[in-house]
Amino acid sequence: MKIFGINIGEEKTKMSDHDKVTKAPMEYGKDRPKAKNPVLIEDLTLRDGHQSLFATRGRTEDMIPVAEMMDEVGFWALETWGGATFDTMHRFLNEDPWERIRTLKRYIKKTPFSMLLRAQNLVGYRNYADDVARAFVERAAANGMDIFRTFDALNDFRNFETVVPVIKSSGKHFQGCLCYSLTEPRMGGDVYTLEYYVNKAKELEKMGADSVCVKDMAGLIAPYDAYDLIKALKAAVKVPIHLHSHFTSGMAPMSQLKAIEAGVDILDTCMTPYAYRTSHPAIEPLVMALLGTNRDTGFDIRKLAAINEILEKDVLPKYKHLLDDSKVSIIDINVLLHQTPGGMLSNLVNQLKEMDALDRIDDVYAELPKVRKDLGQIPLVTPTSQIVGIQTVNNVLFGDEKDRYKMITAQVKDLCYGLYGKTAVPINPDLQKKALKGYARGEKPITCRPAEVIEPELEKAKQEIKDLAVDIDDVLIYALYPVTGKKFLRWKYGQEEPPEEVKPKTLEQIKAEQDLIAKAKAGKLVEKTEKKEAPAKGERLRTFNVFIEGDYYEVGVEEVGGTPVVSYMQQIPVAVPPAPKPAAPPAPAKAPAPAEVKPAAPPAPPKAPMPEAVATEVGAGVTLNAPMPGMIISYEKKVGDHVKKGDTVVILEAMKMENALPSPAEGVIKAVNFKSGDSVPKNAVLCIIG
Ligand code: CO
Repeated sequence: MKIFGINIGEEKTKMSDHDKVTKAPMEYGKDRPKAKNPVLIEDLTLRDGHQSLFATRGRTEDMIPVAEMMDEVGFWALETWGGATFDTMHRFLNEDPWERIRTLKRYIKKTPFSMLLRAQNLVGYRNYADDVARAFVERAAANGMDIFRTFDALNDFRNFETVVPVIKSSGKHFQGCLCYSLTEPRMGGDVYTLEYYVNKAKELEKMGADSVCVKDMAGLIAPYDAYDLIKALKAAVKVPIHLHSHFTSGMAPMSQLKAIEAGVDILDTCMTPYAYRTSHPAIEPLVMALLGTNRDTGFDIRKLAAINEILEKDVLPKYKHLLDDSKVSIIDINVLLHQTPGGMLSNLVNQLKEMDALDRIDDVYAELPKVRKDLGQIPLVTPTSQIVGIQTVNNVLFGDEKDRYKMITAQVKDLCYGLYGKTAVPINPDLQKKALKGYARGEKPITCRPAEVIEPELEKAKQEIKDLAVDIDDVLIYALYPVTGKKFLRWKYGQEEPPEEVKPKTLEQIKAEQDLIAKAKAGKLVEKTEKKEAPAKGERLRTFNVFIEGDYYEVGVEEVGGTPVVSYMQQIPVAVPPAPKPAAPPAPAKAPAPAEVKPAAPPAPPKAPMPEAVATEVGAGVTLNAPMPGMIISYEKKVGDHVKKGDTVVILEAMKMENALPSPAEGVIKAVNFKSGDSVPKNAVLCIIG
């Protein structure tokens, strides 16, 4: 078998060195001669891989078993940090995000670390002040980050002006990203043209980019567009060109091959168990495809297989349940129509699921391009994907034909103000005007670099968090995520016991749970459970309010090993008609019952849902209910405060976007049922106004 000597691209060498050296049949191993111009590979398994497929839930302890082996492969870089990891780790995994870099560095000594930096958004969802941005990049570099893949969701590179000099002065690699976006099925149209990208790449090179990355977060780039784009970029700039293309639409492996033909320098892949679906192409097929060519990666495929075996056997069983298995198909053809990046897609589906509105998904798809157009045809990538996504959901669920924008998120208001930067085309002026009515910073949008209007935040954060922060890394966790960051620091320093659900599970625990589920599914547990008493309510119990015609039930559901199990169901005296007797409003799970409220008869019929939030009249007043599941950021009013109808009472975070919930009526706040940081289900009674 003689396959050596294939030249990809336009290199004119007729006979490669391989032809002269290799006589023996092809080896899988590293013994084969080095290619002339190997494609460099960045592995994304430890960041984008689990972010795309497993909700960013990968724990450091599950990366360690393969860390040293990954270091031996010969990757150009390993992406280990940034993106959503910082948020997820401190919020859901009770892990210090900074510690992950330091821990992995102890095992991975040769291969550079790469992180995804959302420019002035850092690893959050808004633009932070310059002082926080500088401190964050300094600390990321000091903790061990080598390559800063930097992007701005609007491709507004004024948002790079603060972080880039810090990356450079720390002696690190600044990789500038072009967020790849389309307004039509293929590259072109009047916004995202070849010329647009080439000009942007030149801007990046001028800013000192050490490499330029085409960041195709939704897998939109078609193979021949990839060819044209990479070719044009190679001709326009001197620095290496890198392609990051998600698999979502199924085109990425073809686009990678065409990019190689066009001379791309670096490609992104994942280890097989973390590849495909909304993640990235796998590395192994690429290694095989290029074997013996002038672009041969030089990787030993047996080493890759050994890593995969560990991932499959020892790691993935812990994460498999997080995989969206609602569809058999691993390709989402809809992405070509609605341009939704993978992470956003699963968020949208989850959000709708939790709101019992999954049947509205097609309306969401139809509304999405309209919202995007209204908001200036912005690329869809964190955080703009969330901004457009949640606003779309809000429009579908709360808007009507006359007014689609009945509930505008705080982030859409910020975007309309210019706080994220300049949009590709101007924002719909009517929407802009409506969004900025009464906007705290002013009703006239800004045109300067966004961070110029953001007050310094670091000193304020230090003063607020006081002794709970031991060092600057702690302060930054709080500065970036005030509510969940503070909660995490309380766990970290033993001031509060972390809840069960943030604790890691061993493989044995997982296995025991799965065995139980398997037995239950096979019907083998039925006899036993019939004789058994109901199990004690555990800590993972969540309560749901279920309304069936006139009856109201409280249902407790406990998650055991990833499968929700209904653990109890009790009928509650109803507070909604047709009720035979009046009763107190149902108290949400774990919330103290509002003491001030006395049942009064007869209760008024529930009002039609408010456009902004659900309200129900109870005897002593009107309740403000959560229109969606989320986390309480803050109460803007306290018990005893007088509110007018429409005054903001609660800020509720859902899908990372903040929603200002207005009072459904005029009155006095009688009861406040939650506090900052509490998670609430849909319809939870947030407060009572009487
Ligand atoms: Co990505």
